[in-house]
Amino acid sequence: MPKNLTQKIIAAHLMDGSMEPGAEIGLKIDQTLTQDATGTMAYLQFEALGLDRVKTELSVSYVDHNTLQMGFRNPDDHRYLRSIAKKYGIIFSPPGTGICHQLHLENFAKPGKTLIGSDSHTPTAGGVGSLAMGAGGLSVALAMAGEPYHIPMPKVLRVHLTGTLQGWASAKDVILHLLGRLTVKGGVGKVLEYTGPGVATLSVPERAVITNMGAELGATTSVFPSDERTREFLVSMGRPEDFTPLAADEDAAYDDTIEVDLSTLEPLAAQPHMPDRVVPVARLAGLKVDQAAIGSCTNSSYADMKSVALLFAGKQVAEHTDTMISPGSKQVIKLLARESLIEPIVDSGARLLEASCGPCIGMGGSPVSQGVSVRTFNRNFEGRSGTQDAQVYLVSPLTAAQCALRGEFSDPATWGEPPAVDPLPKDAPSIRSLFIYPPVDGAAVEIERGPNIVALEQFPTLPDTIETAVQLKVEDNITTDHILPAGAQITALRSNIPAISEYIFNRVDAGFVGRMKARAAQGVAKACGGVIVAGDNYGQGSSREHAALGPRHLGVCAVVAKSFARIHRANLVNFGILPLLLVNKDDYDTLAQDTPLSIPTASIQPGGEVSLQVNGVGLVPVTNDLSAHELAVIRAGGLLNFVRFAKAQTA
Ligand code: F3S
Repeated sequence: MPKNLTQKIIAAHLMDGSMEPGAEIGLKIDQTLTQDATGTMAYLQFEALGLDRVKTELSVSYVDHNTLQMGFRNPDDHRYLRSIAKKYGIIFSPPGTGICHQLHLENFAKPGKTLIGSDSHTPTAGGVGSLAMGAGGLSVALAMAGEPYHIPMPKVLRVHLTGTLQGWASAKDVILHLLGRLTVKGGVGKVLEYTGPGVATLSVPERAVITNMGAELGATTSVFPSDERTREFLVSMGRPEDFTPLAADEDAAYDDTIEVDLSTLEPLAAQPHMPDRVVPVARLAGLKVDQAAIGSCTNSSYADMKSVALLFAGKQVAEHTDTMISPGSKQVIKLLARESLIEPIVDSGARLLEASCGPCIGMGGSPVSQGVSVRTFNRNFEGRSGTQDAQVYLVSPLTAAQCALRGEFSDPATWGEPPAVDPLPKDAPSIRSLFIYPPVDGAAVEIERGPNIVALEQFPTLPDTIETAVQLKVEDNITTDHILPAGAQITALRSNIPAISEYIFNRVDAGFVGRMKARAAQGVAKACGGVIVAGDNYGQGSSREHAALGPRHLGVCAVVAKSFARIHRANLVNFGILPLLLVNKDDYDTLAQDTPLSIPTASIQPGGEVSLQVNGVGLVPVTNDLSAHELAVIRAGGLLNFVRFAKAQTA
């Protein structure tokens, strides 16, 4: 049966499951990448698996997010990441070398390979025909251990491209156009696969802009075929041997198709505060611009930077428009220098920043109060820029450069001719000597830990019966922010579960951590120091693993709720916490804080009912929606233990 490209790559990597849309599949992962903000936890989890070396073909640890080294925490993390990479066979990219996705595209991404990364814009590598997905740190750790990566089999949405981009329209406008049509939910559960004659008109860096922001559509990933343009890119990057042609079969079937005529597109902008609030740039003409920020993993390639430098040549940016430029990698910086393109950027009055995420992650470059900031980035959520009341517009580098020069949005019809830029450099200088490669045998390498790096503890297995007490009772719609707030002070503790656990539920009940610690001091916390009782939709919001890890560290072994949010429920399972569902939601009212209770855990079956014995109340029936696999994971004390025990048995 003819296959589309997504099905071909999945079929070549299928370890378990069937390729029916929605069914769970396990994929062999060829490559992994991490960035520093999520990487430390991924590597602490990998360490806990007790392996000597990663099992992937290639794993790379990039430092690009928290590159500012103010105080010991970030530099300690960087040193830890460097030593971990050396020990376990991972390539290390030091701070300042570049942004993970730009570097991966330039140096390592290959057609037909599977890649998961602990960063949501990992799909950037779909520009060369990789099946590249963002994942949680634990999934990346397990993939490095050779375990399959489990996802629901996605549907495949064909994006059929015709025509050629005209005038000032660019790759960014293609994905902004799709966001305007499909919305930020339009790609959920889907892979966007690009086909049609328009594909050949786009270079790999342009394709990567489009696959990068497929993440904003909520897509599993996005993928382009590997063709002559892919070969040209890999030749330009000095690695022609990595080229393999790849395309969908003729007559392959798709779940749906959407048509885009590239010739009809015009410069677009996503208005505050959502990437799908898309309007033509012309409609914003006259809006004063306080800041222009050009770079990020979306738009920091050689061609993007060169087009901006050519537009700036001989001109200065508006005096009220704070303009900053972050090239995506040191290769891009070297290319700009070789072609004398640094000078026009410097002379324009723009600030040239380090090759890192920088303003995209709020590491400097926040706009003025109530300021209008045009950014070539991928997200414009409220407050993400570091200025709560800033108005952030997402645009292409060409549009951002025009805004910087004029100090306001203007009609592209008044811009004249766009600069002619060859999308690929000739004989690009390699920066591969700047990566730190691991020795063949890392056994003698000592892992360097500063005070902020604390090894993950091994959680206990689930006992047959739990005698415990309700230690916290919360309402409906508790978010992961209620459980563990974000913020620089707390995020800096990401590699230190005991320290970050001090903040668990602080916003809800300031006495919770103290009570759990008192239970631990009495020696009751090891197996289960307490149960949380919750209303509906417990754990909604972000996917942060610490919101399950912190409570588990404090001794929480079960949450009894009316219902759970999907991702947090998965995190509870992964870290060995029982998610139990009240059979009668009215029983919520009978479960008071401090009430002793017992849970007959040995009797729990997938989907089966058991009764809690609650002091002063009697029997309270609970059920679960766990699979046999998930229950086995919880009984083992979490996914890390489960894999570790399985490996010990087969050794
Ligand atoms: Fe970095 Fe922003 Fe991309 S934080 S990885 S440049 S989305």
